[in-house]
Amino acid sequence: MAPVLDAVSMIGGAVLVAIVVALHYTKGTGWTSSQDISQEVLERRASTVAETDFPEPMNRSIGGGGVAAGAVGSGEGGELEEGGEGGETAEEESGPWDVSDDEAEYFEVEFVKEGETIEVAENETVLESGEDEGWDMPYACRQGQCVSCAGQITSGGNSEDYVVHNGQEMLDDGELDEGYTLTCVAYPKSDFSIETGSAP
Ligand code: FES
Repeated sequence: MAPVLDAVSMIGGAVLVAIVVALHYTKGTGWTSSQDISQEVLERRASTVAETDFPEPMNRSIGGGGVAAGAVGSGEGGELEEGGEGGETAEEESGPWDVSDDEAEYFEVEFVKEGETIEVAENETVLESGEDEGWDMPYACRQGQCVSCAGQITSGGNSEDYVVHNGQEMLDDGELDEGYTLTCVAYPKSDFSIETGSAP
């Protein structure tokens, strides 16, 4: 009988230990999180990562391997430079508009209708210079994309002999040859006379 009793007591002991262990893990340490902050933390981290146009799998790789992140970085940069930045560079070529006020050269511009000749800095548009005089100059977009501000340089020849256009998109070569200019994007590079409010 002794071996049977031993076996029973061993089983009883094992069951007791199992109950104690189960109780321990059930009760745990007594600490519980007041709230589930994991989602909040994830969202906060996500908000610090710049958005990309790449599909989700590539986004995930940013946080993973350094090589993948580097590859994504360079790819993104390349695309931006070609599509956006490259285009902007073309639009934002340096020109007289970049010259500081201290170094700007001035040219005499005769505003025929207004009956006055004023000095216009090379870093100022013909439109702005007229507005500075308090004249009611016509304009709309101020970006060279309409002809509201057009004027005609009457000094003879192509208007671009007298002004540098910073991105005019409306006048063709024939109109430029007739002296037409878009005053909102026209920076003087010589003396001239202009009829404001004169469109082709
Ligand atoms: S205001 Fe539109 S082109 Fe000058």
